[in-house]
Amino acid sequence: MKGIILAAGKGTRLYPITQSTCKPLLPVYDKPMIYYPLALLLEAAITEILIIVPPDELGSFERLLGNGERFGAQISYVVQHDRRGIADAFIIGEEFLDGEGVCLALGDNVFFGSGMAASLEKAKNSLSGATVFGCYMDDPRPFGVAEFDSDGRVLSIEEKPKKPKSNYIVPGLYFYDNRVTDIAKTINPSARGELEITSVNNVYLQMDELRVVKLPKDVVWFDTGSSRTLLDAACAIRRYCDETGEQLGVLEETAYRRGFIDRDQLCAVARELSASDYGQYLLKLAGEA
Ligand code: G1P
Repeated sequence: MKGIILAAGKGTRLYPITQSTCKPLLPVYDKPMIYYPLALLLEAAITEILIIVPPDELGSFERLLGNGERFGAQISYVVQHDRRGIADAFIIGEEFLDGEGVCLALGDNVFFGSGMAASLEKAKNSLSGATVFGCYMDDPRPFGVAEFDSDGRVLSIEEKPKKPKSNYIVPGLYFYDNRVTDIAKTINPSARGELEITSVNNVYLQMDELRVVKLPKDVVWFDTGSSRTLLDAACAIRRYCDETGEQLGVLEETAYRRGFIDRDQLCAVARELSASDYGQYLLKLAGEA
């Protein structure tokens, strides 16, 4: 299975912050936003990853992440020139996917909590169809919203409904089999002119091949697309790290624990970054501090 991170959003809702940079490169507490979805893919043992970036920003992403070797991944990049919607990722990424299934992560979605790893593992191991998640929100209206029957089976998914049929939103982390590119090519743009991921999910639903897995209660999810949620996410991550003594979104840590890099590689990165808390954390992990 391959991974795609859609990091092409300019972040106009965050102007003027994003006038000189793009949203996925902004810090969320102590790491660039894109580290969080990237660490999630590594956690799911997905290491072949395509990052879709906005025009004029390729150099910044390359400076930050390079080819991914540092954290045991193979990263490639492609520019999305026109904002055509989330489902466009599968069309842009067709050659990269080369007939494999995919996990798509949105560059501005942050998940954490101890139940996340098991949810990822389960979704990745579902052989065919699509697996998405359901996450409880007090106000689900700005998102894709799932409706369930009394047995917990999904009945519908609606994009930004005025009258939501449940409080479960579908966050920006999606697993699809190898039919997803063909499906993305068949859907029509929505009223806002975008190829909606919800339309793709509805095609799988009509084929009776969509699973919506409710995330465990300890999993916290943020869409960091507004200044308020960006700050909320940063505060929640800081609190989590302080309370647990764990760090979130440390790419080299996930890669090391998963066996994608060895101790020597970990030490090399740790020494290079040793002036920062991040580097010191890696040194400790490598048993060097
Ligand atoms: C998009 C999707 C929506 C999903 C949300 C998660 O919304 O269309 O279904 O729930 O991401 O962040 P958008 O960011 O385009 O408003």
